[in-house]
Amino acid sequence: MTKIVAVSGSLRQASLNTRLLHAAASLMPEGASIDVRTLHGIPLYNADEEAQNGLPQAVTDLKDALAGADAILFATPEYNNGLPGVFKNGVDWLSRPVSDIPKVFGGKRIAVVGASPGGFGTILAQDAWLSVLRMLGTEPWFGGRLIVSHASTLFDEQGNLVDEKFIERYRAFLADYVAWVRA
Ligand SMILES: Cc1cc2nc3c(=O)[nH]c(=O)nc-3n(C[C@H](O)[C@H](O)[C@H](O)COP(=O)(O)O)c2cc1C
Repeated sequence: MTKIVAVSGSLRQASLNTRLLHAAASLMPEGASIDVRTLHGIPLYNADEEAQNGLPQAVTDLKDALAGADAILFATPEYNNGLPGVFKNGVDWLSRPVSDIPKVFGGKRIAVVGASPGGFGTILAQDAWLSVLRMLGTEPWFGGRLIVSHASTLFDEQGNLVDEKFIERYRAFLADYVAWVRA
């Protein structure tokens, strides 16, 4: 079984990005699973807090999940043409202590996707993640892109994907990504 751990960068209950990841569960290729995580419970990073109390439980749990993953999938919102502070803050916690970075992120194959209601589909936020992913020693996937524009039109009220054309595009993206992870 190829185990993908997916992290959504939005805390919003009806988040398009979280919905996008949940929708992947039924579109994954044979023999691959997806474990969708969010950043709920992760506080603002404060080095004093870390020095006094160590890592919050939510951070330790997510680090463990990522360390045990065969590969990682990030779904990023785009805020002001960049990456959202909430997501970057979460990843900053996940990079602590620095000595754990190789275990959590080192050499990990990772794809970044993202959804937005606008026409540009998080293209700038996805690019903005690349320098962070390089710093963390990951291996980002450049073989495909999932730029999800006008994303609010793709889901029904319950958060299910309803756009058949997009569903097929997403299924193909996931198949190619998992094939690369296994290669
Ligand atoms: C502070 C802020 C800045 C935003 N900036 C952008 C942006 O630059 N580009 C974009 O496509 N959407 C932008 N949006 C809209 C988000 O794409 C939209 O809120 C989206 O639904 C967030 O992702 P989520 O549904 O997963 O929470 C912005 C939203 C907020 C709150």
